[in-house]
Amino acid sequence: MEKLLIQGGVSLDGDVRISGAKNAVLPILAATLLGSSPSKISNVPHLRDVTTMMRLLGQLGASLTVDEKMAIEVDPTTVDSCLAPYELVRTMRASIVVLGPLVARFGEAEVSLPGGCAIGARPVNLHIDGLKAMGAEIQVEEGYIRARAKRLKGARIFMDLVSVTGTENLMMAATLAEGTTVIENAAREPEVVDLARYLIRMGARINGAGSDVITIEGVERLSGCAHRVLPDRIETGTFLVAGVMTGGRVRARGADPTIIDSVLAKLAEAGAEPVIDGEDIEIDMRGKRPRAVSIHTAPYPGFPTDMQAQIMAMNTIASGTGTIVENVFENRYMHVQEMQRMGADIRLEGNAAIVTGKDRLYAAPVMATDLRASASLILMGLVARGETLMDRVYHIDRGYERVEEKLSGMGAVIRRVQEMPT
Ligand code: EPZ
Repeated sequence: MEKLLIQGGVSLDGDVRISGAKNAVLPILAATLLGSSPSKISNVPHLRDVTTMMRLLGQLGASLTVDEKMAIEVDPTTVDSCLAPYELVRTMRASIVVLGPLVARFGEAEVSLPGGCAIGARPVNLHIDGLKAMGAEIQVEEGYIRARAKRLKGARIFMDLVSVTGTENLMMAATLAEGTTVIENAAREPEVVDLARYLIRMGARINGAGSDVITIEGVERLSGCAHRVLPDRIETGTFLVAGVMTGGRVRARGADPTIIDSVLAKLAEAGAEPVIDGEDIEIDMRGKRPRAVSIHTAPYPGFPTDMQAQIMAMNTIASGTGTIVENVFENRYMHVQEMQRMGADIRLEGNAAIVTGKDRLYAAPVMATDLRASASLILMGLVARGETLMDRVYHIDRGYERVEEKLSGMGAVIRRVQEMPT
């Protein structure tokens, strides 16, 4: 079992190149299924979740080739199955985004229900209700979503909740439907916009991506094309927080400063005024301690829930007290007890976490529970006194490309160790 060993007390100082966005590349790879010819997706991060999605596309019969720069060519013309099996979907719930493309392009889909995960039940009712509104016949039985439609029909769909992959699934399905679809209360995340950019380049007719009303006029067919995935705003925020917490200087290279306003505003509030220089964002907190900040997570452009654990980590060593309110997921505080074991002062009151900064944290063996929780524990290991050993490293590998290499490149003392089974 692989673990990460992190030596605390080093102030980061250096540059880090930001990878392509995990939460954009996953739906975009699924969208290649909509094309009648191959697509080439570049700036793809080397992540477990990407490998899983590639395996899923291969399982469906698509032909994939990867070049030396990790650009992926997907040829959907060889697809000969519409089954997304449980053994794959349970390892990555984002697999649900193949549902819309399969029904739209092939008239059928059999996708395992993703099941819950550490951060919540994460139902997919909005995905299913939206496809039903577009005329799909859907049965949910034996743990599978079975959907059929000769041809989907455009519909007006109001999303009860803002759902990122729900919006993505329905937007993809609508591109080949007969007539016009309007998705109201749509997710506005930059990853939704990047997906729409790719679909439009394939020949889809989409207006309003990035706003809460997206209009899609169905077309007869889409052609594959090339697309470069946008930078990962959560990876960017995570490394900037690492610089803030360690009292260092971090320059995130190849980022997109226009899609993380809410995070940059909070770092400024903490005393780490970000300096933007084109696609680079630098923070310099050498010799300084951050002030605690309060956040309320919300759909974009609100503060991203995927940065909640990282800001909590920052608050554990900041001066003062900050209140964190998690409004998107019902159980996204799995990292709290691990942080408390490192000496953090955190009080949970319902969906609020009141965090009072401490002068020092103590290294401890910790266990990652979900992707962003594991990132926050690494951040705390960077400042805790002693050596932190983090278990279940596969969680971090799902969403952060070569995390120890990127951190070591900024001076962190961190390495991956094989823990022999006892
Ligand atoms: C996406 O998940 C991201 N994943 C998540 O990132 C992110 O945390 C989340 O959006 C919120 O921004 C990908 O894009 C692959 P939602 P998603 O549907 O689409 C409820 C990470 O760390 N809901 O926007 O699954 C749901 O339970 C991951 O990279 C329903 O009730 O999230 C949640 O409370 C974690 N019914 C809320 O809506 C539905 O049918 C928002 O979920 C769908 C969602």
